Amino acid sequence: MQLPPGPREPSALQTYEWIARPTSLMRRAQARFGEPFTLRLAWSDAPMVFTSDPGEIKRVYAADPDVLHAGASSAFLEPFAGPRSILVLDGADHMRERKLMLPPFHGEALARWRDTMASVANEELARWQPGRPTRTLEHMQSVALEVILRVVFGGGDPQLREAIRRALGVPMPMLLAMSLWRGDRGPYAAYLRRVRRLDALLYERIDRDVGDGSLLAVLKQTGASREQLRDQLATALAAGHETTAASLAWALERLARVGGDDILARVRDGDEAYLDAVVKEVLRVRPVLAITPRKARRPYELAGWTLPAGVHVTPCIYLAHRRADVWGDPTAFRPERFLDGAPAPYSYIPFGGGVRRCVGAAFATLEMKEVLRALAARFALRPAARNGERMRRRSITMTPSRGGYVVPHALASAPGHADVLPPQPPDRELPDLQPRAPG
Ligand code: HEM
Repeated sequence: MQLPPGPREPSALQTYEWIARPTSLMRRAQARFGEPFTLRLAWSDAPMVFTSDPGEIKRVYAADPDVLHAGASSAFLEPFAGPRSILVLDGADHMRERKLMLPPFHGEALARWRDTMASVANEELARWQPGRPTRTLEHMQSVALEVILRVVFGGGDPQLREAIRRALGVPMPMLLAMSLWRGDRGPYAAYLRRVRRLDALLYERIDRDVGDGSLLAVLKQTGASREQLRDQLATALAAGHETTAASLAWALERLARVGGDDILARVRDGDEAYLDAVVKEVLRVRPVLAITPRKARRPYELAGWTLPAGVHVTPCIYLAHRRADVWGDPTAFRPERFLDGAPAPYSYIPFGGGVRRCVGAAFATLEMKEVLRALAARFALRPAARNGERMRRRSITMTPSRGGYVVPHALASAPGHADVLPPQPPDRELPDLQPRAPG
């Protein structure tokens, strides 16, 4: 059985590009080969077939979970998340973990975390110095990590915080080396040592008494084993902060450039519908996860191709969100587009879909709103450099290349600060972020 066409470069080179220039790799492959196209990446055990077609995406998300396995496509996460993590399980085991993890991140439980999110955001923003260029990614990581630590353990935990940073902050060259060589020595072994250090701390916390209402307390009541608890906690800590932090850094990077004064003014005025639209537009125009892969356990039909069992098929979030036939002016940052009604089905998929849809979607959306609300109350934003930032990979997420580098200016209403702001420059969209018509 043949696969859809794709770049002929060796897998090592495609992997390098996937890490160093992910967006340009996807756009070039789409422009050259049309869709679907195939990439060969070192950390998946088989070729990966990409589609951004809403009809095909719908079929993938609705497919029998015994035919398309998302857990098998995420096997590379196992060294950190553990073999019992919802991320790497499939079938009945996956659904069991999912039922345990969903409730603490939804409904009433979610509403309880709103104040925590707002106070962590305010504590962080109170330390920002007006007029000083600030790499917001680092600060948003602090906020998101602190929020998830308080949710998981019922309070902050500096020792654990440092261990998580060390285990997850894998620099790009190390990521590349790890994806190619998994030996007993070298970067992969060093990474495993960091994870083991984190494990020791997690087990220590699991064995302690924990406060009521924390995620750990809730999970403990389910009768899960220590090992299961360890994997659930590691998953929540990892999945629950890098993505939200990167999305927030993108929000600030965009707002510093594209009509952010008016946008933040509407947020400041309490326009909830608009705030919701702003968050949605950030997740559309700068999705921090590019793909939601599934491994075919049986031959799978995609856009007229019969893909053999064993290959990975993936809806491509990045390309779906910039289809010129679905989104008017797709690279423009225009929250209003979400006020005019819901987007076409399966054209907007920042949280994936089907039985694997992100467990933390509502939680992350709420957190982004609370941080933006707190920010709007204090600051106006200006870019710290002339051009917009490119999408660069940092571990798994695609983050702003200069770390979301902005200058926060205090508002006139804040005592002791001037309100004379430089005019907001026009946004100069980078050539490599321009859309192409889908093939
Ligand atoms: C803006 C922030 C976030 C984004 C963009 C995001 C995005 C995603 C995406 C694209 C997936 C894969 C879905 C699929 O394969 O169809 C996913 C899965 C997941 N996310 Fe998130 N996520 C975010 C925040 C969070 C948070 C705060 C948590 C909290 C625990 C979380 C927990 C998870 C889990 C556990 C899964 C696996 C679900 C499963 O396999 O059943 N995420 N997320």
